[in-house]
Amino acid sequence: MMFEKSQEAAAFVRGKIGGLEPRLAIVLGSGLGVVASAVEQAMVIPYTDIPHFPRSTAPGHGGRLIAGLLGGVPVLVMQGRVHFYEGYTPPQVTFPMRVLGRLGIKTVVLTNAAGGINPGYRVGQLVLIADHINFLGFNPAVGPNDERIGVRFYDMTEAYSRGLREIAKTAGAEMGLDLVEGVYLATTGPSYETPAEIRAFRTMGADLVGMSTVPETIIARHEGMRVLGVSCVSNLAAGISPHQLTAEEVFETGKMVEGQMAELLKRLAAKMV
Ligand code: HPA
Repeated sequence: MMFEKSQEAAAFVRGKIGGLEPRLAIVLGSGLGVVASAVEQAMVIPYTDIPHFPRSTAPGHGGRLIAGLLGGVPVLVMQGRVHFYEGYTPPQVTFPMRVLGRLGIKTVVLTNAAGGINPGYRVGQLVLIADHINFLGFNPAVGPNDERIGVRFYDMTEAYSRGLREIAKTAGAEMGLDLVEGVYLATTGPSYETPAEIRAFRTMGADLVGMSTVPETIIARHEGMRVLGVSCVSNLAAGISPHQLTAEEVFETGKMVEGQMAELLKRLAAKMV
């Protein structure tokens, strides 16, 4: 069923983007939506037009698919994503990754805003995701396996491509950015964490905490795509930050760094395909 629905959505998108054949897709996280304006010859498709596609209800998430050229490379940009905390099921949250798979996307860049757990991080820093900890309590690949897509049991040793991380570091260095790597831990949200949870997550080996990305990575890997994850440290995590956490802080930091993120993604695109 999921396969047919994702085929239907992919056929619709293909019909809208003419002859463009993107192999690279980018998902924009909270407060990072303006990155989409770096896309040239943009064709915009609202999620509400795409069959079976979930709609973003979270503030700061646009809800549009943008096709065009980034750094001269054909791309699909998802401006906005959906989260489990919005009430969507894990298969709904990851449906866009299925559609990207049907469209022939081979590489996906997942961006997000995250809380910084690593005491060495500063607000506004961009961090490459080296690995993740799934603390969501579910795995979106649960359910009947469709052998047309991938195998039942699949490896996650290098869920976030080492090669893509190296390319990202090179692109970052060209801009004077020292891109470090960190481990991203996903919670369902929507409440932020308690200081005790953050201390526990730090002990577990997490550098970053957020409410997205992990389900998408799990399904992108099932689809055989290479994944690059880029977090913007939008705030210091609970108990590390001297003040209480608000979504406004997350968006404001996003706005501060979205120019930098756009430049990084443009340089990356040119190097990635
Ligand atoms: N916790 C969880 N998710 C987040 C945070 C945080 O501190 N910042 C941005 N997304």
